[in-house]
Amino acid sequence: MIEENLYDKVKKQIDEYYKKEDCSIWKNNFHIEMPFGLVNDPNGLSYYNGEFYIFYQWNPFDCEHNNKHWGLVRTKDFINFSKPKVVLKPVDWFDKNGCYSGCGIVRDDKLNLFYTGNVKDENNERSSYQCIATYDKNGICTKNEVVIDGQPEGYTAHFRDPYVFIENEIYYSIIGTQTNDLKGKVVIYNSKNLKEWNFVGELKTNMNDFGYMWECPNMVKLDNEKYAFIFSPQGIEGEEFKYQNIYQSGYVIGNLNLNTLTLNHEGFKELDMGFEFYAPQVFKYNNENIMIAWVGMPEKEEEYPSNNRDGRVFALSMPRVLEEKDGVLYQRPFKALEKLRKDKQLELRNIETKEYTINPSSRTLEMKLNLDLNLNTLVEIKFKFKNEYISLMYNKNTQVCIIDRNHMKLKPNGIRKFKLKASNSLKFHIFIDNSIIEIYYQDGIEATTVMYFPKNNELSIEIKSQENLFISELDLWNLKKINYN
Ligand code: FRU
Repeated sequence: MIEENLYDKVKKQIDEYYKKEDCSIWKNNFHIEMPFGLVNDPNGLSYYNGEFYIFYQWNPFDCEHNNKHWGLVRTKDFINFSKPKVVLKPVDWFDKNGCYSGCGIVRDDKLNLFYTGNVKDENNERSSYQCIATYDKNGICTKNEVVIDGQPEGYTAHFRDPYVFIENEIYYSIIGTQTNDLKGKVVIYNSKNLKEWNFVGELKTNMNDFGYMWECPNMVKLDNEKYAFIFSPQGIEGEEFKYQNIYQSGYVIGNLNLNTLTLNHEGFKELDMGFEFYAPQVFKYNNENIMIAWVGMPEKEEEYPSNNRDGRVFALSMPRVLEEKDGVLYQRPFKALEKLRKDKQLELRNIETKEYTINPSSRTLEMKLNLDLNLNTLVEIKFKFKNEYISLMYNKNTQVCIIDRNHMKLKPNGIRKFKLKASNSLKFHIFIDNSIIEIYYQDGIEATTVMYFPKNNELSIEIKSQENLFISELDLWNLKKINYN
């Protein structure tokens, strides 16, 4: 049992932390990160009382996957944030081994939080309870009660991550689970008042044999009335150009019939082809679907050097707007992030060159790069830190993009490959933070998230090709730090 006085200590540590400058070269400037501990899934994403509420899984005590709390930061503009705060503590009988992931929904001027209470008995047997808590305008969080006790018949206790959406004035909760014969699925409950929930049944999809567990489901209504069912399946075999991480996060798009519980959908597509991206959550704001994901991967935390050196591991992704075009979810950074731009370092147009090297004046940058591929088949961008580098390569003949971080001295290493269509023009939108790089390709048809831990701070960026290279546009900005007050 966690003693209450530990929380006073955590609060003090947080206050002390923000009084000083953190000098770690890996401390991210514009990705949400905690002063210490392990962060995973974004939770309860909502717009409430004039602010964005960003909750997340947080172990504030160490860098291991236990003691899961919900932490919270609030922001109006994605630049100024409230200091992190512990909100849900795993101290009750129904959540004593973790206040696991869930969502937020505003009703009657209250922010309702749904989460999974994870409980393990002395034999390590798991029980899962779906719980509700409310967060009020004065910052008081009250746990209410268990609203769904255990799982329906036919499913194991891997039953978690409720996501609530509303359709025709009825609330629906989809919950990630596993059948008794170990197939990943989601089940649906409904409710008129968010308190009493009725089991409706399993969502029928074409994915009957698609991994052994589906975590963190989202059901997101698109402009064309279709739904994107976004989830994180576990147990999918890796392929040459797909599914290269231990677990995946992606979506299918289709027509949802809530009477028959059928989702008539197209194929599954991953949301991010990089290394660290999992458990995304989507919320609506001004009719836009905004997604934030965990920049991390389950079961890999020991590989990350910030863990031992800085006492902190993982972060949250930049907020990304999702937009459906021709059956694909395009991702672009949420508009508010343009305010992070501090000064423009470079603006190039129509340059033909053999090789172009940038020595930026800072290491937190936004770069828009459009290349004209008429002359080239192979291009490479290197993010160099003296004698180590990450390389991004594109081959127009094979239409394959490769990210290689095997030339970094410190782990994590590895290569990711994915298919990317380009004929004459190749567009990158790149965000470099101190230990995270997010790249959006061809207006957001693909994205990659990469964590990296350089030994020194001196970044140079090389753009090159065997033949002459035609840079049609290159814009580079220094980016500000977000603050926590
Ligand atoms: C996904 C996940 C969720 C769970 C949470 C626990 O990363 O495993 O299914 O609720 O993390 O931290």
